[in-house]
Amino acid sequence: MSGTSGVVVCRFRLAELMVTALRAFADIKKYARYLRFIVGFAEAALEIRKATTSDEIARAVAMDEAHLGSNKRADYIKARAENGGLRVAVLRDEVLAFCCLDNGYFFEKPFISLLIVSVDARRRGLGAGLLSHVSSASTEVWTSTNRSNAAMRKLLDKAGWRYCGELRGLDEGDPERFYKTA
Ligand SMILES: CC(C)(COP(=O)(O)OP(=O)(O)OC[C@H]1O[C@@H](n2cnc3c(N)ncnc32)[C@H](O)[C@@H]1OP(=O)(O)O)[C@@H](O)C(=O)NCCC(=O)NCCS
Repeated sequence: MSGTSGVVVCRFRLAELMVTALRAFADIKKYARYLRFIVGFAEAALEIRKATTSDEIARAVAMDEAHLGSNKRADYIKARAENGGLRVAVLRDEVLAFCCLDNGYFFEKPFISLLIVSVDARRRGLGAGLLSHVSSASTEVWTSTNRSNAAMRKLLDKAGWRYCGELRGLDEGDPERFYKTA
């Protein structure tokens, strides 16, 4: 091979490498567009709103029962639903999370008394979505959780809620921590 043809081969290889790199970049862009489409589709399919049907209320009651191991809060959840205080996160007709907003529970301040996300739907932003939905509709919302509930405490911290103090004596050895929207 002569010196000139060596340079040509080198240039050709370089050009080939550049084309491969550009193709890879185009693929990344193509997949990024695809991923954005999937995320957009999931977001569009997710609704956070008041519970409207008896099926949705029953699903919230069942989720609470699975979490608590008892149905002792069933009447409370149904009463909240009747007062318009039951909020659900619904993905393609399936209730995956709910919260109860209660205005007569805590010094007549809007108070989230229960927030439960179905076990297999956790860490997908539904808890944060429900908090944001409720807090965007009022200037001040309160909630509380046990000190031992690291997941809820981290959720509240990340969502920017303000820690206001804790109350001892409700659950022995596990104080109740109170938070409000900042
Ligand atoms: C607490 C609970 C509501 C969180 O709901 P969730 O939908 O999983 O939370 P999100 O996906 O919105 O999480 C938002 C952020 O909160 C924090 N967080 C949530 N769960 C966490 C966990 N188990 N460990 C650490 N951080 C956690 C993270 O910072 C998370 O952001 P990231 O996923 O980007 O790291 C859910 O775990 C649950 O239903 N627990 C049982 C019921 C309960 O304890 N309710 C609260 C008192 S009534």
